Amino acid sequence: MRICLKGGRIVDPSQKLEGRRDLLIEDGRIVAVEPEISPGEARIIDLSGKTVVPGFIDLHVHLREPGFEEKETIASGTAAAAAGGITTLAAMPNTEPAADSAAVVELVREKAAAAGHCRVYPVGVLTRGRRGREPAAFSELYDAGVRAFSDDGSPVADSGLFLRILRQLARFPGVLVMAHSEDLSLVAGGLLHEGAVSKKLGLPGIPAAAETVAVARDIILAQAAGVPLHLSHLSTAASVELLAWAKERGFPVTAEVTPHHLLLTDEEICRSGARAKVNPPLRTAKDCRALLEALRTGLIDIIATDHAPHTPAEKAAGLEEAPCGIAGLETAVPMLLTELVGKGKLSLPDLVQAFSCRPAELLGLEGGTLRPGAPADLVVLDLEAEGVIDPAGFYTRARQSPFAGFSYRGRPVMTMVGGEIKMEQGVVHGAKS
Ligand code: DOR
Repeated sequence: MRICLKGGRIVDPSQKLEGRRDLLIEDGRIVAVEPEISPGEARIIDLSGKTVVPGFIDLHVHLREPGFEEKETIASGTAAAAAGGITTLAAMPNTEPAADSAAVVELVREKAAAAGHCRVYPVGVLTRGRRGREPAAFSELYDAGVRAFSDDGSPVADSGLFLRILRQLARFPGVLVMAHSEDLSLVAGGLLHEGAVSKKLGLPGIPAAAETVAVARDIILAQAAGVPLHLSHLSTAASVELLAWAKERGFPVTAEVTPHHLLLTDEEICRSGARAKVNPPLRTAKDCRALLEALRTGLIDIIATDHAPHTPAEKAAGLEEAPCGIAGLETAVPMLLTELVGKGKLSLPDLVQAFSCRPAELLGLEGGTLRPGAPADLVVLDLEAEGVIDPAGFYTRARQSPFAGFSYRGRPVMTMVGGEIKMEQGVVHGAKS
């Protein structure tokens, strides 16, 4: 099967390419990127006026299956990814059972393949059962193809155990440890960022130190063990300073930021209530500015959504009772295009670099490029398309968002994985919305 995408503007930082090109796809791979292709026998898709970028790669997604299918299934979560222009995702292991065995990893892979909406890389746990007490069965997980490890949702609180785990993982080539950096003793029942808003509302706050103390510990232990450490969902300006400190010294550290930590502040709780309750919490405008500046300079390596779906009923339970988490797969690209690219705060190539090229590098994945030979994983963007975020139309089961009602200009209009069209004009083929 040959497909020729004609007349689109290609933005591909992996080849420093920005300009009008035709793209020829054969048997699921890109075979040519040229100013003008006469494809002969092929399906021709006219993309004039549209922008084509490598498919977005989200290294931080909670698919919830097995165990929490009322919140999300692998089918619904991967459909949400395709709807959002995400062609590859890393699935976090805080399921029930947790991804601490080859059997669970295989189950996730099989269900993802059966759904067929995007590529899924299961992340393995750091501790058995994610209980934070003993190292997981790393050889078994590694032999099953797992390369990223995390207890996301919880830190490994015991520093001695964490160092032992990092040292064990350092023996496996190509491994990435994804740290959930949080000191639970400093969180101590907090519901939102500790600051002016928590004081105004009279609610217990989570100090910035709950993250930065743990970030400091984690980068120091990673350096001691000599294992690549990836700092998940950074939320504070002080964490950015520690990241700079570590990178200046050549520590093996990378980091991510979520769209909600870039675009929303703790004030959002006043408008959205529990829909904006997330861990780490939304911080201050100063933190947002520091995170964006770090992203712009490449100090923060990647954007990841931390898509953390919960049922509408759970989120309606009030600020105290509701679980933490924001479903980000379907809002990330329109919101980032609108608020950052559209407002001149981040270039489109820099967005693609942070949300496709660099994530591919971090996990050693094939995607993140439109070079001939690469899999045809790509997204077509309509940078002029306007609308309003409406969770009623989401594919995720978590049909609520602090971005509900936000206007956007720019969204994905086609998602292709391995040369197959998975989403067109917001409709995901073979999925229930
Ligand atoms: O808000 C969050 N929700 N943060 C996490 O670290 C975990 C996640 C979840 O699994 O719900």
